[in-house]
Amino acid sequence: MTEKWWHKSVVYQIYPRSFYDSNGDGIGDIQGILQHIDYIKKLGVDVIWLCPVYDSPNDDNGYDIRDYEAVMSEFGTMADLENLIRECEKRDIKIIMDLVVNHTSDEHFWFKEAKKSKDNPYHDFYIWTDSPNELKSNFGGSAWEYVEELDQYYLHFYSKKQPDLNWKNENMRKEIYKMINFWLDKGISGFRMDVIDLIGKEPEKLIKENGPKLHYYINEMHNNTYGKKDLLTVGETWGATIDNAGLFCNPERNELSMIFQFEQIQLDKEKGKHRWDIKKLDLVELKEVLSKWQYAMEDKGWNSLFWNNHDLPRIVSRWGNDREYRKECAKMFGTLLHGMKGTPYIYQGEEIGMTNFYSDNIEDYPDIETQNVYKERIEQGFNKKDIMHSIHIKARDNARTPMQWNDSENGGFTTGKPWMKVNENYKYINVDENLNDENSIFYHYQKLINLRKNNKVIQYGKYILLDENNPSVYAYKRVLDDKSIVVICNFYENPITFELDGIEKLNVVLNSYKDTNIETGKIHLRSYEAVILEN
Ligand code: GLC
Ligand code: CA
Repeated sequence: MTEKWWHKSVVYQIYPRSFYDSNGDGIGDIQGILQHIDYIKKLGVDVIWLCPVYDSPNDDNGYDIRDYEAVMSEFGTMADLENLIRECEKRDIKIIMDLVVNHTSDEHFWFKEAKKSKDNPYHDFYIWTDSPNELKSNFGGSAWEYVEELDQYYLHFYSKKQPDLNWKNENMRKEIYKMINFWLDKGISGFRMDVIDLIGKEPEKLIKENGPKLHYYINEMHNNTYGKKDLLTVGETWGATIDNAGLFCNPERNELSMIFQFEQIQLDKEKGKHRWDIKKLDLVELKEVLSKWQYAMEDKGWNSLFWNNHDLPRIVSRWGNDREYRKECAKMFGTLLHGMKGTPYIYQGEEIGMTNFYSDNIEDYPDIETQNVYKERIEQGFNKKDIMHSIHIKARDNARTPMQWNDSENGGFTTGKPWMKVNENYKYINVDENLNDENSIFYHYQKLINLRKNNKVIQYGKYILLDENNPSVYAYKRVLDDKSIVVICNFYENPITFELDGIEKLNVVLNSYKDTNIETGKIHLRSYEAVILEN
């Protein structure tokens, strides 16, 4: 495999609205990020993924873009952003930006023109029909919205204020490529591509993901924009399977560096239903899925590794125990993931063990998806308590509460009124507390990141799952020539003994507890204990 710079990178995802508010208006901003780059540097990551900072009416917090080439005024100015890029560069931190090209805002100039008449040159930049079919929006309700002036419906796979772009239109594609090059010229190092597997949609045939021309479009975009540069591109692809993954990220195909696939993330959802229809996670199934992807990518491309992002609940609350064993769980999940082959992504707050957010008041959940699906479920006759239960477990808002910096009011996120409530637990879960404790989650993540930077086995070693049917322990090996590491994680609270021939001869590289309890051929694991050993 040709070595690439991102093969040893760890990416830190920033959701600017909730990161740090520098001017007291309650909304995180670019200056706020600038003031904390040294914190990010201290963690050891070398790439920042910046969620959308483009001009937007914020129907979907910036994923509805009004002007691709302007910065959202709440976040600052273009000069602030350029400054951030430069300041990061000085510290050897690269920035990748979110690229949202499946849809725009309905306030985008193109859509305003498109709505004027059927002959307008921008009309065909979007997708219209006279007779809407049964396609649904991912945020609830029909995917079609009526426009009286035209007596036509337009397609929106997300909110009504996010009309879908028509990738069949070549002029539209050219405008997008121009915009991408505008950003590349600013010195960024790549893109995270929002719902990129939807751009080949053929709505008249009910095709959303993986449309017939999807790969043609991605390849064309590659060739007209980032292809000539050595950049990191990661596609968000809910529709990816191991069978089509190689189409996106096999280096010879000139499309993307890697994708975010979501198979493991959906294991606690009832098959075929909405994310909020919850089922219990089965560890053996989780091992099966993660291992399948590790094996598949040996020759198909490169994996991304993540538990969290701005759309997902916090992993310590989701599959761990965020009350009695929060720190142990956070370290265990980190260790399990960061020992694997691929590029790890850390979502802001993960490194300090932030948790889900609990409120019984639906008003405390501003996300458009939460609000829409809540209303839809109330109308469908779901019980309110059950809906709130799903929200506590799965709502996107769980990830979006403001970053907890210290134990002062509002977790030190803002001196004003935060745009969204800060999690009450900021009093004991915060950055300061982590930095003052040498055994903190933060320092554990710092060690994991350092390990990857300097360890070829972690970067390139072949993955081998151990004891696949063990219902409590997730253990695997990574092997490169005569070197290997072993990662062993107790996924549950009950202490357990794990047997491994020759384990007593291995050296402990990292443990989530202060000491390690090894005997000949076995290791005794405490609650959620995670260990990395090497030969
Ligand atoms: C992606 C984003 C999500 C957004 C959606 C529509 O899934 O991660 O936050 O709502 O696309 O742009
Ligand atoms: Ca602000």
